[in-house]
Amino acid sequence: MDPSARIYSRFNLRLYDVVVLVVSNAWAWRCSTTLTLLPFFHKNLGESAHLDVGAGTGYYLAKSVHPLSKTGNVTLLDLNEATLNTATSRLRHAGYKGTIDEVHHNVFQPLPESLRGRFDSVSLFYVLHCLPGRMEDKGPKVLANLADGLRPDGVLYGATILGRGQGVSHNWLGRRLMCLYNKKGMFGNADDTLDELKRALERYFEQVEVKLVGVVALFEARRPKMKCTRKAS
Ligand SMILES: C[S@@+](CC[C@H](N)C(=O)[O-])C[C@H]1O[C@@H](n2cnc3c(N)ncnc32)[C@H](O)[C@@H]1O
Repeated sequence: MDPSARIYSRFNLRLYDVVVLVVSNAWAWRCSTTLTLLPFFHKNLGESAHLDVGAGTGYYLAKSVHPLSKTGNVTLLDLNEATLNTATSRLRHAGYKGTIDEVHHNVFQPLPESLRGRFDSVSLFYVLHCLPGRMEDKGPKVLANLADGLRPDGVLYGATILGRGQGVSHNWLGRRLMCLYNKKGMFGNADDTLDELKRALERYFEQVEVKLVGVVALFEARRPKMKCTRKAS
């Protein structure tokens, strides 16, 4: 398994919420889980079918049982089966009664036929910065695959930690974590910039909004382009 997914063993998943969602988001990446990321997750959640890419511990979904109750189907997609199982149990435990489909899949591969054109919303939280490669390579590959999952009126939205570029200034803790995680292959974002992310999104979507909070880019992309109008940048 790729190091971007291998690290999420059952044991490490028990530490994930505290290490990433509580400590790192507040002190290293300066983007609050509860004040910024969770409301952003809720705001974009679709009404009938949602795809969560990079399931992790299922934190955002489990905190969304109320808005999710309108959503008849949740699909979880991940390269790591431990995260799929953990997120499903957590969502059930939180009281979600709709259907949950687990898809063991690599985001670098095209979506299975059965998932194409199906979702009102696709969330991609904290996955892009884990993936290896430069944003201009990995961004278009992953976004092209996920754009295919959306209905024409659907939204792809997410968040990713940037490495450098205008407005991106890492603090002492952030620099240490970036160095360690990039060395271990858990992150592949040393050169990820806001401009490259925006360019990758604009290649596949007509309407793109990106904003920076701390060193985290929050993005929303609507109106997926038809395959024949997607231009190489
Ligand atoms: C940092 S966690 C994010 C978890 C959750 N979305 C959150 O924001 O708390 C990254 C997730 O992406 C998954 N992942 C990493 N590389 C992947 C790949 N190539 N294809 C699919 N999932 C991948 C990992 O297994 C993990 O669940």
